[in-house]
Amino acid sequence: MKIVYTSRTGNVETMVKKLGATDVVKLSDGNEKVEEDYILLTFTTGRGMIPPVVDKFLESNAAFCKGVAASGNSDRFPDSFAQSADKIHAKYGIPMITKFDLAGEPDQTEEIKVYIASLA
Ligand SMILES: Cc1cc2nc3c(=O)[nH]c(=O)nc-3n(C[C@H](O)[C@H](O)[C@H](O)COP(=O)(O)O)c2cc1C
Repeated sequence: MKIVYTSRTGNVETMVKKLGATDVVKLSDGNEKVEEDYILLTFTTGRGMIPPVVDKFLESNAAFCKGVAASGNSDRFPDSFAQSADKIHAKYGIPMITKFDLAGEPDQTEEIKVYIASLA
């Protein structure tokens, strides 16, 4: 399964590496085009918001997105923890896989792996 992700300070990228994924696309400007099934991993920005590059990407690529997992910081942002996942679900109808703190714990890594396996 292809993984599309964005990472500003490296936490999401660390999670992608823990998944052992080899077919990955890191968003740079949101103009990327993906025409096969994929899952999306993203961080959360400015009070529970979707990073703009992700929004831009999804505006023309949401159809093939089979799930979203979002990182946040539950310590610093308890009221908007990883809410980019909720926003992406509400705006694009994409199923939410899980939310994870920073680079995630083994439980969430496993959750994402199981989800990917269920799509295969
Ligand atoms: C300006 C800024 C705003 C943020 N806003 C939120 C937020 O609203 N909710 C949240 O859970 N995390 C928030 N975070 C934390 C990041 O989503 C979190 O650190 C994430 O792991 C970063 O992923 P990355 O290292 O892959 O960029 C924010 C971080 C920054 C720098």
